[in-house]
Amino acid sequence: MDLKMAGHVAVVCGGSTGIGFATALTFLKEGCSVAICSRSEAKLEKAYKELMDLGYSNVYAESVDMTDEKSVYAFADHVAEKFGTIHYWVNVVGGSMPRALNQASSEDFDRAVAMNFKSAFFGCNAAAKYMKKQCYGAIVNVTSMAHWRPAAGRTLYGANKAALVQLTKGFAAELSPFHIRVNSVSPGLVMSEMSRPFVPEEGTEEFRKFFKEYLIKRPGEAREIGEPIVLLCSPAFGFTTATDIKADGGVDAVYELQWVYENLDILSQ
Ligand SMILES: NC(=O)c1ccc[n+]([C@@H]2O[C@H](COP(=O)([O-])OP(=O)(O)OC[C@H]3O[C@@H](n4cnc5c(N)ncnc54)[C@H](OP(=O)(O)O)[C@@H]3O)[C@@H](O)[C@H]2O)c1
Repeated sequence: MDLKMAGHVAVVCGGSTGIGFATALTFLKEGCSVAICSRSEAKLEKAYKELMDLGYSNVYAESVDMTDEKSVYAFADHVAEKFGTIHYWVNVVGGSMPRALNQASSEDFDRAVAMNFKSAFFGCNAAAKYMKKQCYGAIVNVTSMAHWRPAAGRTLYGANKAALVQLTKGFAAELSPFHIRVNSVSPGLVMSEMSRPFVPEEGTEEFRKFFKEYLIKRPGEAREIGEPIVLLCSPAFGFTTATDIKADGGVDAVYELQWVYENLDILSQ
């Protein structure tokens, strides 16, 4: 499918691994120039080399801490210097740490806000500076199924992702006069560096139990989040803004799912 994005410029914050890397690769396949950032030089170098080895030379990589406002603005300026402007911006940075609320320190609270909420706030504003000039652009914030179904023991993460959904709608409204669309994507569990430690080994009873409430009984692949993100940025979704799209394997979509498996003989008729 030609998404009519060729020649455009896309930025993926947190683009060195996992969902961000898959998103960057999808933009490249659509003919965009792509800038990625993350903190670790080593991860960036690895990602950059992998993209070069695949034959993509229109890539820019910079070490940026997305929780530092000045660095985010400087990164946007560097991308615009390199590629001329910015058409698409994806805020992928985020992460959780297990912490009972009565054990969470003020520093834990600030870290959760900075990583999952503030980073996207800075990102949206940095992107808008360039998108407003050309009266065109699309921004996607990566939230999580945890924004509507918070994980016990990881409330600070879910609460900040819920706040990010609200922030997305606010930016969508304030940027609408400039024809800039702002949406979010909520993944369910996706295999990545971040999630691998929690996922039981495939084929075990623990794995089956883990995905019991998913209609699609497996973890997602990073590509299965990156591709919807790029589609959402594309003109194919030109009438969609202020929306949260679930890419979550249908987790918790229905209750009494067991009924389906107890009645497969009827359902297969
Ligand atoms: N994987 C899942 O199951 C899942 C499910 C729902 C939602 N999500 C969300 O999806 C997003 C990506 O997750 P993932 O699984 O792909 O994780 P990941 O592989 O750990 O990727 C996170 C990326 O963000 C970068 N990053 C982290 N903190 C940063 C900072 N302060 N400044 C700049 N870059 C930073 C990381 O690189 P550095 O460490 O080098 O900075 C890395 O490139 C997160 O927002 C997460 O909450 C993931």
